[in-house]
Amino acid sequence: MSDDVLAWMNELTAEMEERRKRIEKGGGEARIKRQHDAGKMTARERLQTLLDEDSFVELGVFVDHLGGELMQGLEAPGEGVVTGYGQIDGRRVFLFSQDFTVLGGSLGKMHAQKIAKIMDLAVKTGAPIIGLNDSAGARIQEGVDSLSGYGEVFYRNAIYSGVVPQLSAILGPCAGGAVYSPALTDFVLMTKGSSYMFITGPEVLKAVTKEEVSFEQLGGSAIHTRQSGVAHLEADNDTSVLEQIRELLSYLPQSAREKPPKVVSRDPKTRETPELLSIVHPDQRRPYPMHEVIRVLVDENHFFEIQPDYAKNIVIGFARLGGHSVGIVANNPRHLAGTLNIDASDKAARFIRTCDCFNIPIITFVDVTGFLPGVAQEHGGIIRHGAKMLYAYAEATVPKITLITRKSYGGAYLAMNSRDMGSDVVLAWPTSAVAVMGAEGAANIIYRREIQNADRPQAVRAAKIEEYRKKFDHPFLAAGRGYIDDVIDPKYTRCHLIDHLEMLEHKEETRPYKKHGNLPI
Ligand code: HXC
Repeated sequence: MSDDVLAWMNELTAEMEERRKRIEKGGGEARIKRQHDAGKMTARERLQTLLDEDSFVELGVFVDHLGGELMQGLEAPGEGVVTGYGQIDGRRVFLFSQDFTVLGGSLGKMHAQKIAKIMDLAVKTGAPIIGLNDSAGARIQEGVDSLSGYGEVFYRNAIYSGVVPQLSAILGPCAGGAVYSPALTDFVLMTKGSSYMFITGPEVLKAVTKEEVSFEQLGGSAIHTRQSGVAHLEADNDTSVLEQIRELLSYLPQSAREKPPKVVSRDPKTRETPELLSIVHPDQRRPYPMHEVIRVLVDENHFFEIQPDYAKNIVIGFARLGGHSVGIVANNPRHLAGTLNIDASDKAARFIRTCDCFNIPIITFVDVTGFLPGVAQEHGGIIRHGAKMLYAYAEATVPKITLITRKSYGGAYLAMNSRDMGSDVVLAWPTSAVAVMGAEGAANIIYRREIQNADRPQAVRAAKIEEYRKKFDHPFLAAGRGYIDDVIDPKYTRCHLIDHLEMLEHKEETRPYKKHGNLPI
C-alpha cells in the first residue's frame, strides 16, 4: 500500500475516533456537571458501575436523530441513549442507558430504535434486558415520531414478557406515557430523591384538579414502593440501585428456556434449625417474625426481599436453598394478622407468575386466618384480586412446596397453595392447624344454641371452643386425608425443604392447549 493511501486510511480512522469521542462526551461538560451536582451518574458511568470490568460493547454509537423541522441545528450525540451488551458476573445482558445530558434523554424515533435493536438481540440470543431510565419523555420536537418510538419499545416489552427477564432502573425523571415501558417489565427499581414516575405531572394536576404536590410526593420512590406498588425496590443512589440489579439477576435465568444458576452452597443441607422453636410461639394469637423464620431456613440466612414496604401482610423475595434459587411467598402475622387483602393478593400473584416465567421454584410459608374482612375490601374487588392468587398458583408449573407454620383457614388456605391448588409437597409443623375457620368462630356458630340456652353461656362458650380446638385445631386431620404430606419437626425443616426441592428438580407439568389464560386482572 502506498504511503498516500496509508495516510488517507489513518485520516479516516482518526476522524472516526474523533466522532466517537465527541459522542462519548454526550451533552458536554456543563451538563455532565449538572448531572453530577444532582447526585446522578452519567449514562456511561452507570454502565461501567453495573457491568463487569471492561465488558461493555457498544452498538449504534453513530446513530443520529431523525431530523425534521424542529430538530434543525440541534445535536443529539448517541441519540441520547447508550446501547449495547456486557456481562454481569460473567453472564451476558443487553442494556440501554438514557443520557439526560442530551436533550434531557428525551426519546426520539432513532433513540427508540436503538433500544428496540438491543431488545431484539436479547431475545434472539436469550439474555436479560436492563433499562437505565433517565429521560424527559417524548422528544417534543419529533412529535408523533417520538410517540411511534415509544410504541416500538412498549410492543417489545409486552411480547418479550416472560421470554427474557426485563429490569428497569428509574434513575431520573420518568413521566407521561413513558412510565409504561418500565411498568411492562418484571422489576422496577428506583433511586430515593432523584427519580420519579407519574402519568400527569404536578403542573398539569394543579391546573386540572387544583391539587398541589411536589414531584416527590406525586411519584417519588417512597410512593411507588409503599403505596402504589409500581416499584419493587428503592435505594439511596445510583450505585446502590445498580448493586440491587446485580443481585436480582443472580437469582434469575438468562431466559425462559433456562433454569436459574445453581451456586455452591457453603451452608450444610442438614443444618438443624432449633431456633425456630423459640421464634414461633405455639399460642395461635401470638404474632412472630416471619422474616426470621425465612432467614433461619435459607442458605447463609440471606433473604433478598422484594417489595418489602408494600402490602407488608405478605412477604415475597428470593433466596437459595441448597444452592438452588427459590422464590418465597409467606404470610406475615405481624401485619394485618397476616390476612390477605387486595394489595397482598396482587403483590403475591405477580411474584408467583414472575417465578413461573423464569423456572424458579416457589416455597410458600402459610400462617393465614383468611381474607381481610371489610366493606372497603369487598367493594374494592377482593374477589377479583384474591382470585389472581388462586389463578397464579394453579397456573404455575414450577416446583411448588408449601409449609404450614401455623394457621391455614378458609379460602386463604387454598389461595396459599394447598394440595388441591397444585402444590407438589405440603408440609406442616405440629403447631399448625388447617380448618374452615378458627376455633372461636367455629364454636360460636356450630354450638350457638347450646351456648345461648346455657345457664352460664360464657363458661359453655369457653368449654366448646376448647373442645373444638382439641378436636380440630391441629394438622393431623388434614394429614390423615392426605392434604398434608408430612408433619415435621421444625428443627429439621431446612433438610426437608432441600430434599423435596431436589426431588422436584426435573419436574415437568403440562397444561391443556390454550392461546393464553384469562387471569382475572
Ligand atoms: C426535548 C427536552 C424535553 C423534551 C427537556 N428537554 N424535556 N427536549 N423534549 N420532552 C431538554 C431541555 O430543553 C434541556 O435542554 C434539557 O432537556 C434538560 O431539561 P431541563 O428542563 O433543563 O432539566 P430539569 O430542570 O432537570 O427538568 C427536567 C424535566 C423538565 C422535569 C424533565 O425538562 C420537563 O418537565 N421536561 C418536559 C417533560 C415532558 O413534558 N415531556 C413530555 C412528556 S409526555 P438543554 O439544551 O437546555 O440542556 C410523554 C408522552 C409519552 O412523554 C407518551 C408515550 C406513549
